[in-house]
Amino acid sequence: MSRLVIISNRVAVPKARGAAGAQGGLAGALNSALKKHGGIWFGWSGSEVEEYTGQIDIQRAEGVTIATIDLARQDVDEYYNGYANSTLWPLFHYRIDLTEFENEFGKGYERVNEQFAEAVSPLIEADDLVWVHDYHLLPLGERLRSRGLENRIGFFLHTPWPPTRLFVSLPYHERLVRTMLEYDLIGFQTDPWLDSFLHYCRKELGAEVDEETGRIEFEGRTTFARAYPIGIDWDHLQAQINTGEARQAGQRLLASTRHRTAMIGVDRLDYSKGLPERIDGIGRFFDQNPERVRDLVYIQIAPPSREDVESYQKIRAELEQKTGAINGARSEVDIVPIRYVNRGHSLAELCGFYRAAKIGLVTPLRDGMNLVAKEYVAAQDPDDPGVLILSRFAGAAEQLDCDGEGAVLVNPHSRDDLAHAIRTALDMPLDERKRRYEAMVKTVRDDNVQQWTERFTADLASIETR
Ligand code: G6P
Repeated sequence: MSRLVIISNRVAVPKARGAAGAQGGLAGALNSALKKHGGIWFGWSGSEVEEYTGQIDIQRAEGVTIATIDLARQDVDEYYNGYANSTLWPLFHYRIDLTEFENEFGKGYERVNEQFAEAVSPLIEADDLVWVHDYHLLPLGERLRSRGLENRIGFFLHTPWPPTRLFVSLPYHERLVRTMLEYDLIGFQTDPWLDSFLHYCRKELGAEVDEETGRIEFEGRTTFARAYPIGIDWDHLQAQINTGEARQAGQRLLASTRHRTAMIGVDRLDYSKGLPERIDGIGRFFDQNPERVRDLVYIQIAPPSREDVESYQKIRAELEQKTGAINGARSEVDIVPIRYVNRGHSLAELCGFYRAAKIGLVTPLRDGMNLVAKEYVAAQDPDDPGVLILSRFAGAAEQLDCDGEGAVLVNPHSRDDLAHAIRTALDMPLDERKRRYEAMVKTVRDDNVQQWTERFTADLASIETR
């Protein structure tokens, strides 16, 4: 088996910024892939320095080598806060209203991709499979090729890929996608994101595209693009559910809710997650059913994210205002309808909360996949499972709708739709809850992260080298 070299902006070392609780699904998924194959995980340390030095810090943990570089303060501003999180992230989540088109950001992005290429190339051996991750590093494959690297290089995008009409509003969009075609294999979470990418290649680049196989021919090169829906680490999650930490967390939550049904949401504090819209939907539910403030308590866990970016500061203020307004209007001396927690929690604690909460609310306005939806399902008690309310705009809906017999799908923009779904979930009989759970848990268990890694790396390994 070839060694894996995984390259992503963030690596899951304790030193990395925000590693506890705010790292999103990517970090956990990659860690388990590397443990199996052995190899290197390369990325940013999360630390900022005055001047970039190119020095690589190497640590070994559980058979995995973690190699990181520090970035210069200006590069963090222009590459991470700038191009990655103020240009690409909003655009890829269909938020052109929040997208900043700043020339300096693009230059910083190219500079850091070049620094990554320079630092990681000497660590790569001839037979290694190289696997690059996410929107921070779209041009990295091309940068590695320009250094003569002939390895198989794959890329996986964890976010949506926007429709062509939206994507072309990005200056230099063509330059960016041309660099991506230096990868041998490009993975997307779901068919809709894949279709948008293939559409772009055909319409804007004039590439020859075979929809069946995902083969893209462009200027004498071949790239494959396919959908590989990411999953969770099922076994690890089951082990977490059975810990004392998870049980205690669940009991603590139940004891504090005193016969009210707990409904939970766990999201990075990001505008793509539809949090203010969700709170509005909950407000609508209480407006329509004021007496049910005695039946339902909503727990929103939202660790802050990307706090140096203005749009993230604004969403936080908006959420605080909306939550406060509903609590002010609906609380009684012994009852508060919404609990809002800004802190991250361990996976074990989250599993305890998920299991204790009879409704899981996952309502992003747009999401590549969303692993919280899958974790919520995996953590349920099969004899008394909770109901998952899921946005139709999350990649996870492609798998968890289960022909209308899985998650309760909602339009996250519609307060009425959200309010109606909450009522449906609260009143759903046990046999229907079980039926829906069984449909969902099958794909959550079987299409797990190990299977995802195997599928991607096997496809990458099977591609003929250049
Ligand atoms: C999403 C992205 C990841 C990212 C994570 C956390 O899941 O796809 O690449 O690591 O969010 O965001 P952060 O900016 O803290 O790395």
